[in-house]
Amino acid sequence: MTARKISLTGVKPSGTPHIGNYLGAIKPAIDLSRDFDAYYFLADYHALNTMRDPKEFRHSVYDLAATWLACGLDPAKVVFYRQSDIPEIFELTWIISTVTPKGLLNRAHAYKASVDTNEAAGNLPDDGVTMGLYNYPVLMAADILIADANYVPVGQDQRQHIEITRDIATSFNAIFGDVLVPPEGLIRDEVALITGLDGRKMSKSYGNVLPLMADPKELRKAVMKIVTDSRQPEEPKDPDADNIYSIFKHFGTPERLAEVRGLYLNGGLAYGRMKQELFETLDVSFKDARERYNDLMADPQKIDGILATGAEQMHATAQRVLGKVRAAIGKTTFAVKAR
Ligand code: TRP
Repeated sequence: MTARKISLTGVKPSGTPHIGNYLGAIKPAIDLSRDFDAYYFLADYHALNTMRDPKEFRHSVYDLAATWLACGLDPAKVVFYRQSDIPEIFELTWIISTVTPKGLLNRAHAYKASVDTNEAAGNLPDDGVTMGLYNYPVLMAADILIADANYVPVGQDQRQHIEITRDIATSFNAIFGDVLVPPEGLIRDEVALITGLDGRKMSKSYGNVLPLMADPKELRKAVMKIVTDSRQPEEPKDPDADNIYSIFKHFGTPERLAEVRGLYLNGGLAYGRMKQELFETLDVSFKDARERYNDLMADPQKIDGILATGAEQMHATAQRVLGKVRAAIGKTTFAVKAR
């Protein structure tokens, strides 16, 4: 059997997806799914670390699922599921935590950042640190290892998590034999990242985002907030130093980009006109996706149905891998009957 390599990634529901998420994560992952056996999931129990409002939790899971589906994820080609629907992940989390050195997690960036902040403020080092934050990398390792994933497409900020996953798999294998597959990260190039309204990286935490599935009025309002300098239309400008162009360049046609660059460099580019053009371009680019998104959000049962099918498929994989792990540690099962 020449099995295809497995690529797996998780996305944490947190706030409304924006155009930076689309270019940085959604589109590349969907493109990649054509070359692999792809497993993509909603990391909803990771989001529980920060989300304490049940309504918001519920909504953001649907919002994210609908966004990915609307942007072209094909559930007939990708196993698309919700982490919390796969109980095997949580059993594996426990089993691998028994071979995970505590020191490995002490060194995890997110945990260390919390400790540093506390120490700077004169608080106890673990103030406000939950076990959920601390164990986050172990749960993520289980997400990956439960599928025997070979490749994990992620952003730079997840590099350490992939290394921790490899370390955990290697520790487990050293004790119990060659059972878990140490994955490789496919780390995305940050240069491709899109800048936000103020020129910094587009990020929810900076409040500088262009929403992806918003209605046109809201999108236009956000575009009009893009920060520019005060140069007059006739003054020459550097397109690569302008926040409007740095977004537009991802969506304009090559011909139009060339024309617009000429206007910037030679004079004749009015920021207001350029913003209007960016808005219109984005509006057209995402029109169909937005319609699909709105249809799905109006029919959450349809989303549930898609995720249920994904969970069923994932369950089969997870049972198989967990079966190997249980056998390796010497756990006996009552009978051959399936649960
Ligand atoms: N930690 C990832 C993030 O914040 C989300 C995630 C959870 C993930 N589990 C994963 C990514 C497994 C890849 C593989 O972006």
